[in-house]
Amino acid sequence: METLTKEKIQIKPGKLFIGGKWVDSVSGKTFDTINPATGEPITQVYEASEKDVDLAVQAARKAFEEGPWKKMSASDRGKILWKIGDLILKYAAELSYLETLDSGKTIFESSKIDIPHTADVFHYYAGWADKIQGETIPVKGNFFNYTLREPVGVVGQIIPWNFPLSLASWKVAPALACGNTVILKPAEQTPLTALKLGEICQEAGVPDGVINIVTGHGPTTGAAIVKHPGVDKIAFTGSYLTGQEIMRTASNTLKKVSLELGGKSPNIVFADSDIDPAVRGTLNGIFYNKGEVCSAGSRLFVQEEIHDLFMEKLVEKANGYKVGDPFDPKTRVGPLVSEEQLKKVLRYIEIGKNEKAKLLTGGERANVGNGKGYFVKPTIFDEVDNQMKIAQEEIFGPVLATLRFKDIDEVIQKANQTIYGLAAAVWTKDIKKAHLLAKELKAGTVWINTYGVFDAASPFGGYKMSGFGRELGMHALELYTQVKSVWIDLS
Ligand code: NAI
Ligand code: MG
Repeated sequence: METLTKEKIQIKPGKLFIGGKWVDSVSGKTFDTINPATGEPITQVYEASEKDVDLAVQAARKAFEEGPWKKMSASDRGKILWKIGDLILKYAAELSYLETLDSGKTIFESSKIDIPHTADVFHYYAGWADKIQGETIPVKGNFFNYTLREPVGVVGQIIPWNFPLSLASWKVAPALACGNTVILKPAEQTPLTALKLGEICQEAGVPDGVINIVTGHGPTTGAAIVKHPGVDKIAFTGSYLTGQEIMRTASNTLKKVSLELGGKSPNIVFADSDIDPAVRGTLNGIFYNKGEVCSAGSRLFVQEEIHDLFMEKLVEKANGYKVGDPFDPKTRVGPLVSEEQLKKVLRYIEIGKNEKAKLLTGGERANVGNGKGYFVKPTIFDEVDNQMKIAQEEIFGPVLATLRFKDIDEVIQKANQTIYGLAAAVWTKDIKKAHLLAKELKAGTVWINTYGVFDAASPFGGYKMSGFGRELGMHALELYTQVKSVWIDLS
């Protein structure tokens, strides 16, 4: 894949994508999207207001009720989705570049993981488009009863900034496969790849109004989507506080809601595990994408017998992690996404120190480049107690909290002692222990002897306050369809 440089790529100011046209916002109000590695603006995008959102909803409604989307065969819809996947691969260099520039994730991650995975998700759901079907039901009496599985309608999709394009694909691809129309709102921190996705959808032949993209902040653009009576469903990924706000607002119009929220996922290392892979997996679990991962393994549980050896290896390897320019292929940890996120993470590091957790490495901002980027050194706390704030609250940065444990019962109890339940991992060579923990851990995903593996075909989502609804796999089809029961009198 070609590596792009800033000189080769021209970044235009963003427009809104409504009804198949690139338009200015009604008010003309814009804001800057910032390069987190330098703190400098990249370009401007529009702040969509209620009026813009209303235009987007009208376009999506028209496309849903009247447009060619509805009349098209499911197989043709699938072909368009497949084309989107192909075009994502065609534009992979540009997309990777934009993703790294806007979010600070390393170019390695953008180009090797995020963008190929995004293409995969579209290809995967392309295959589902013509396999969504109802059933015939053997009811009592002289009736013929069958079900139709129909799209939900106009779907509002609100995306966070940590995996801007790939999380958009988790929502857009199944929604389109099921025949819905979409209003997509990327995070205000990272709008650029979503806008490029609009161009790709156009090129792939998605009819006008089927996907509309509005940029802007949460309380303005996001809230306008959630409030709008013309939107039938909201799919959201982000913080649980915003998730609560969305549910409250959505209750007024009784929209369907699915939420993928945060986590404080336990990563459990038993004394009988293969230590070196467990060390690597643990570091990947917390420092991948600078720890800005909803399923980050942010609570490390290490069994007493191996604690000292394990921590020694962990710290040594963490110290070898290069913090730096995300475009440098050797960089492992890029800048946090925003100044707000930098402040939040540094505040939690101070809290950890004040809570008397033992700081083993990191614990401060890193000075990179012009000194204005939002870089934080990989940070490891040890001797953490499960009641501490750094063990219970989502930090969303490269900060690991380590707890010791004695036995399996203790670790199950402590691992589950959190409001969240997004993911968990277990490192052990004992197959019985592995399956027992897979069953007992209250989390939507459990990884055994690995961390952070995803696939378009495997469901992902939360228990408890990590949300509800499952994305990816066949499970996401539930989110974007509704079932109609049809009765015919045969007497
Ligand atoms: P957020 O949850 O407020 O933002 C995520 C998305 O929701 C953005 O597109 C935002 O514009 C939108 N949004 C915000 N308020 C809204 C509202 N009232 N109505 C509709 N949409 C709204 O997250 P934020 O403030 O960017 O980050 C705060 C913390 O949230 C992070 O430090 C992290 O702990 C957590 N978070 C978790 C994520 C996950 O993947 N589960 C992703 C992003 C943040
Ligand atoms: Mg940005």
